[in-house]
Parts: sequence; structure tokens; C-alpha cells
Amino acid sequence: MNIGPVAVTGHAALAPMAGAADAAFRAMTRRFGAAYTVSEMASARALVYQPTRTSELLIPAPGEAPFAVQIFGSEPEIMAEGARLALAMSGAQVVDINMGCPTPKIVANGDGCALMRDPEKARRIIEAVVKAVPVPVTVKFRLGWDEDDRNAASFARMAQDAGAQAVCVHGRTRAQMYAGKADWDALARVREAVTIPFIANGDVKSAEDAQTLYRKTGCDLVMIGRAALGNPWIFAEVEAKMSGLPAPAAPTAEERLRTARAQIALACERKGEHIAVLEARKHLAWYLKGVRQSAAYRARFAEVKTAAEIDALIEEFLERRPDLDYGA
Ligand SMILES: Cc1cc2nc3c(=O)[nH]c(=O)nc-3n(C[C@H](O)[C@H](O)[C@H](O)COP(=O)(O)O)c2cc1C
Repeated sequence: MNIGPVAVTGHAALAPMAGAADAAFRAMTRRFGAAYTVSEMASARALVYQPTRTSELLIPAPGEAPFAVQIFGSEPEIMAEGARLALAMSGAQVVDINMGCPTPKIVANGDGCALMRDPEKARRIIEAVVKAVPVPVTVKFRLGWDEDDRNAASFARMAQDAGAQAVCVHGRTRAQMYAGKADWDALARVREAVTIPFIANGDVKSAEDAQTLYRKTGCDLVMIGRAALGNPWIFAEVEAKMSGLPAPAAPTAEERLRTARAQIALACERKGEHIAVLEARKHLAWYLKGVRQSAAYRARFAEVKTAAEIDALIEEFLERRPDLDYGA
């Protein structure tokens, strides 16, 4: 598929995830076949008023392309300026606007999913950003604010009219936050409302799910969030499935931990060891999910303070259990 002139080759994108899908993790997903990646969301206001603090969020991993920077905010002029700055800092191929974030702090400011309740303002924002940057602009949002106000189809049409070159829709309402099930039938109806490329998102947990979501919605790309955490191999599985190839072998415990280690090394380079190691605790727990007999180690990984401690613990785990395969 294409987003404007930007070719996206492959079948699954990594969803933007603030505090989880940083450049180091995204690099691992690219290694295993993620076709498209998006930055963590950055505040347009912060970009305009405190650019140095925000720039780290927006800089892609080496070779990470096609890549989108995602910004949020609700003032058209600040969003336009934020988009220009985000693009200059990142060299991204696409600018994505967040109109789906459900977090109370964000929506209380009129940002994120709050914009779904003010489509006229959303239109002004999209138009301003489209005018401000020379790259394609996309919009990510939800099915609506709540069950009584599922306006994703008209919102998608509005975004298309305002100049968006693709839309990405998460099949939940704001009221659902991350609970309940994503409604893929509703996504199919949103898909029909626009002619621009449509990216479908929500609850893809396996290659089979990705294939079903393609079939159900006629989407151009599937986007995977939580199921990719600690599991970048899901992208290889989706590629194989969509190409009619046999499923690749599941990663062994050793592959999982070596990949986690490579990710943490990259994170240390970018953020410094202190922050990278604190954040590594949750990534290690995700990588160990489903690895047999790892519970005791998970508890120990949750307390690591240095990269050297992580290395030592990984080596200890692998030495004790050289025969371990990934499994229930
Ligand atoms: C920890 C976390 C952080 C997220 N941060 C963002 C974000 O910065 N921007 C955004 O558009 N969506 C964000 N999302 C939403 C995801 O992009 C995605 O729409 C949602 O998780 C549904 O997909 P999934 O079921 O595959 O996880 C976040 C989700 C999670 C779990």
C-alpha cells in the first residue's frame, strides 16, 4: 500500500505506544518485518515551547523507514508548527495526528479523542497540518466517543476531505479505553466510508487475527500494538501467513532473551543506562511471558539496576536452562 507517495511494503505496522514502543523496541520489530512504524506521541505544545525535551521521542532508529512521527494537540496553529518541528527533527516520511488517545489528562485538554466530539476543530487541525508539511498527513482515531456517539465513518470522511492521506482506526470507543473487544465489523463500515488507505487496528494477537482483520474490513494495512510487546516475531508470522508460507518456528527462550538484550543495548545508547534499565524491566517481563519456568527470573529482572546485572541474569538463566524452548 501507499500513503501518498510513501510505499509501505508488507502487511503489518507497529502501533504507536507511548512509554513502550520506543526507537529501540521499534528497531526489533523492523528486524522481524514490521512494515511501518510510528513514534510515541509527542505534544505539539511541548515541541514548540520545549523542543529539546521532546526531540528524543521523535528520532527514528537507524534505517527506520517508512516512519511516521505522531503529534497531539488541539490548536491548529500550534499543531502546524509542531508538525514542522517534528518533521525537521525526525526526517520522518509521514506526520500522523493523534485523535484517539483516551487518557483523562489528554482529553481534559481537548486533545486526543476529545477531538472526535469536535469534528470542525479536528478539520481545522488537519487542514493546518497538511498545509504546513510537505509529507503525507494521516490521522489515528477510534470508533467514537462512546456507544451513543460512534462517528468514526463521518470523521474518516472529514479527515479525507481535509487532506489526510490515510486514516488508522482503533476499533474501540473512548469510553472503552482498552477494555472489551475491538469491533472489527464496525471497522469494515468505516473502511467503506473513505477512498484513502485504511489502517485497521485493535486486538490483533496472531497471524490468523491479522488475516481475519484483512478479510473482514478490506483494510490496506493492519496495525499491531500490545501483542507485539516482547514479541516482535509476530511481524514475521503475519508476513508468512499473508504470503501463504508456513509459520516460522517460534523463538526459543535464548532468542527471546538475546533480542531483549539487543533492544536494551540500543535503548542504553539512546537514553542512557539509568532510564533504559528502568524501562527494560517491563520489556524483559514481556519477553519472558510464556517462557517456561521463568517466573522466578521475572521477579529478579524486575529489580535490576544496571545493564551488567541484566547481562548476568540472562546468562544465568540460559546456562541453567539450555534446553528451554518457548512454550506454555
Ligand atoms: C501503552 C500504550 C501506549 C499507547 N500510546 C499510544 C500513542 O502514543 N499514540 C496512539 O495513537 N495510540 C497509542 N496507543 C494505542 C495503540 O496505538 C493501539 O491503538 C491500541 O493499543 C489498540 O491496538 P492493540 O489492541 O493491537 O494493542 C497506546 C496503547 C498502549 C497499550
